[in-house]
Amino acid sequence: MEQDIDRILIHRDQLAVRVRELGAEIAQSYDDRDTRLTLVTILSGAIIFLADLIRELPMKMHIGLITVSSYRGATTGSLEPQLLRELDHDVSGRDVLVIDDILDTGKTLRLVHRILADQGPRSIKTAVLLRKTAKAPADVRVDFVGFDIADEFVVGYGLDYDNHYRNYPHIAVLKPELY
Ligand code: IMP
Ligand code: MG
Repeated sequence: MEQDIDRILIHRDQLAVRVRELGAEIAQSYDDRDTRLTLVTILSGAIIFLADLIRELPMKMHIGLITVSSYRGATTGSLEPQLLRELDHDVSGRDVLVIDDILDTGKTLRLVHRILADQGPRSIKTAVLLRKTAKAPADVRVDFVGFDIADEFVVGYGLDYDNHYRNYPHIAVLKPELY
């Protein structure tokens, strides 16, 4: 795996610091006595972000999972997102925090927001670890962002290329000949 990496963009230590900060920001925006929180996690890219983030959140919560795929196999291009597995929780009347790894074209979050809105949650907020600022669309609002990055394809910390590198501990760019 290591030989495929061109360079590290965000080191695991920086990720840990920022996720802790995000946890504090998010915790502050909810009142544990009144909030009925469900973290809706978009699989599979957000798994590691979710695992680290929830341990920084001191309040009670449900964790809901939904599987959406936008990149198929060995391509970095953006395709229409496909709902591969429906949300396993009812979020009507609940405070939903959507967790995703990265906001790129916004198609994935637009789809998930539409699915959630149909269930009538009390509130919807969104947290993403990464945002590609060049492409981030104006109509997809995210409330919490870990890092803004340039428009290049990244792997690691949950993000994959052709289903590999999710376990790489840093956010990194692959050698150009691999894409
Ligand atoms: P969007 O629908 O174009 O906003 O893309 C969001 C989804 O595409 C994310 O949830 C990721 O799973 C995937 N994605 C977008 N950019 C990257 C990347 O640079 N590396 C790995 N996955 C990405
Ligand atoms: Mg994803």
